[in-house]
Order: sequence, then structure tokens, then C-alpha cells
Amino acid sequence: MKTYRIALVPGDGIGKEVVPAGVKVLEAAARASGANAGLKPGATGDAAGGGEAFQLSFQAFDWGCEYYLRTGRMMPEDGLEQLRPFDAIYLGAIGHPTVPDHISLRELLLKIRFGFDLYVNLRPVEILPGLESPLRGKSAAEINMLFVRENTEGEYCGLGGRFKRGTAEEVAIQQVIFTRRGTKRVMRYAFEQARRRPRRRLASATKSNAMQYTMVLWDEVLREVARDYPDVTVANYHVDALAARMITHPETLDVVVGSNLFADVLTDLGGALQGSLGLAASANINPTARLGPPMFEPVHGSAPDIEGRGVANPIAAIWAASLMMEHLGEPAAATRIMAALRAVTGEGRVRTPDLGGKNTTAEFTAAVIARLTA
Ligand code: NAD
Ligand code: IPM
Ligand code: MN
Repeated sequence: MKTYRIALVPGDGIGKEVVPAGVKVLEAAARASGANAGLKPGATGDAAGGGEAFQLSFQAFDWGCEYYLRTGRMMPEDGLEQLRPFDAIYLGAIGHPTVPDHISLRELLLKIRFGFDLYVNLRPVEILPGLESPLRGKSAAEINMLFVRENTEGEYCGLGGRFKRGTAEEVAIQQVIFTRRGTKRVMRYAFEQARRRPRRRLASATKSNAMQYTMVLWDEVLREVARDYPDVTVANYHVDALAARMITHPETLDVVVGSNLFADVLTDLGGALQGSLGLAASANINPTARLGPPMFEPVHGSAPDIEGRGVANPIAAIWAASLMMEHLGEPAAATRIMAALRAVTGEGRVRTPDLGGKNTTAEFTAAVIARLTA
């Protein structure tokens, strides 16, 4: 039987609560794959269709802020080498008030994204059944976007320095790097995604009215790549106007491509449009080469304000688990997970507090598993 090796990095705060929830759902999906193997799509008892049986083997890594306080590192020196043989990484969230964020995030999360050249960060923004967007009068049919975030350069390249530190004359420089190759490959992927969706639209987030080097290159590459995709309708919006458009005309947005920082900001807004940050999922992938395993994670952080209470919404993590199964080549399992998730939100009986409910992470997860294995 096919076995996928998954590295678990729950990390900090609610990462340690939502990853175990996602793992339980994944285990149920693997069990269901055995029970349903061989069924034809649409056959009774298996809405998601057949698929071969598969197994998942998990290995957990206790890397994160507690590990840092013990060892002085966020992960071992050979951390990337330890992760490399896995088929995928399933990550919770990194960051705790005891460790400066620029250390904890750069030394673990960004190290994995950059180290394995996972240059696409895919972030779907959709409204699940039974949930309402905070946007008055906008239905699920009008909010359906797929963000393609550049994930390995741009504003996050990490080059810079501080001069005359601590003095009144202090200078801080944070460099931004946009390469033609890096811009082109992420845009090409975004166009491919747009081509596969019914509306075939691509919006780009720019700021070339103020940033005359990097963002003008971004716009030039957009025009160049667009020539290969005459079937895709392209719009290039300044990022400030695009943020407003997400609120005023979300129905005009389909696939959106943005730089590392721009799309980071826009996708928290996307999470808010979905109804909670606890709903937004992401996949870090390299669609053209394998330097290491892809990584799947919620968009949200470690939420120190609610950690330890058992009430974190596990939907983003479960959705990320579905993205993982899809990218591992198990679309039936991915669909099964999403179908169970949709059934539970649609029913509306079990909800975590961020969605106005009173249920715990464990109760919501149990409801999803009950659906999945029904
Ligand atoms: P956050 O996403 O952790 O929290 C923002 C708000 O959303 C909080 O009120 C939180 O309670 C709520 N929230 C987030 N996820 C939720 C969930 N699943 N269920 C219910 N409510 C949820 O952002 P922040 O407060 O800016 O950051 C906290 C820490 O996490 C910082 O150290 C930050 O750097 C880090 N962070 C890490 C990641 C990551 O590892 N991918 C992402 C974002 C932030
Ligand atoms: C995200 C997070 C990270 C990012 C931070 C924590 C470095 O906000 O995944 O969206 O900005 O990429
Ligand atoms: Mn973010």
C-alpha cells in the first residue's frame, strides 16, 4: 500500500492544538481510503469517488520557541536535511512572546520556505457552507479567490542591516529583491491556475506608481507572460486599490498574484472575508522542481491570546490537510476531507467561538471525523 511520510511541525501556541486536530482528520481520511478503495466515482457511500488505499506515517518535530529557549536554535542545524526525505510538511504556527518574532519566524518558517525554494504560496479564499462573510449582501458565489503569493524573494529576502545601532543617527536598511526569473515563474503558475478556473481571470497586485524599479519589472513580466495566455483576462491593480476592491467588488476577483509582502497582507484580509482568520489555509509548493517537501499550514499565527484554551478553530489546518492530500496526488481524500468540513459547517450545529459558537477544537474535529467516516 502506498505510504506517505509526513513531517509534523506543530510549532507554538495554537499550532499545537490545530495540528493534532488535522492529524486526526488525516488518519480518518486514510482509513476511509481503505474502506472506499476501488469504488467508482459517485458510487454509493463515497461521494468523493474511489481512489487507492493509502497510509500516512507521521513523525513529529518539537521545533519552535520552547525548543529555542532550551537550545538557542529554532531547529537543529541540519533541520532541513531531516525534513528533506519526507513527502510533505504539515506545520501549525510559529511565534511566541518569549522569542522575538524576527528570530522565530526567519529561523524556522521562512528557512523552510526559502531553503526548499517553495516559491508558490497558494491561499484559497472561499466561503464555506453555513458561514457568512462579514461583507453585507455578498454571497459565497461572489467571494471565491485564489491567491498565488510569491514566497521566496521580494520584500522577505532578508538582506539589510543596521548602522550606528542604538544611536540617534541610526539607519536601518531592508533590501527588496525582485528577479525576472522569480517573478516570471510565480506569474506563470498563477496564469496556469487562472486558465483552469471557469472565470479565467487574473489580477496582479502592483505598486508601480511609487516603486519605479521592482514593481515596474513586476508589471513588465506580467505583460510578457500574459502573451502566452490570451484566454486569461488580466487586470493589474495597485495594491491599495486591490485591498479596497476585495471589499467593494470581490466578485471581480478570481486568481490574484502578489509579491511576498503584498499577498501576505491581502490574505489576512481574505481570511477576514471568509469569516475568521481560523479558516484560511495555505500550501507552500514548488511546482517545477523538488529541493525538499512541500509544506501545508494555516495562514494564521500562534494566537497567544487564545492558546491553551482548546477553542482554536481547526478549519484552516484541516483545509491545509486537504490541500496536502491533493498535492500528494490523492484528490479523492482531499475531496472527502473538504466534503466533511463543508457538511459540518453547513449543518451549523458545531462551531468554535471565533464563528460565534461555543464548541471546542476537539468537538469540531470529532464532528468532521464523524462525517468523514459515516
Ligand atoms: P494570529 O493569526 O496568531 O492571531 C490574530 C487574531 O486571530 C487573534 O485574535 C487570534 O486569536 C485570532 N485567530 C488566529 N487563528 C485563529 C484560530 N485558528 N481560531 C480562532 N482564532 C484565531 O496573528 P498575530 O497575533 O499577529 O501573531 C501571533 C504570533 O504568530 C506572532 O508571533 C506572529 O509572528 C506569529 N505568526 C505566525 C504565523 C505562522 O507561523 N505561519 C502566521 C502569522 C503570525
Ligand atoms: C504568513 C505569516 C508569515 C508571513 C510570518 C509569520 C513570517 O504571516 O504565513 O502569512 O508573513 O509569511
Ligand atoms: Mn501572514
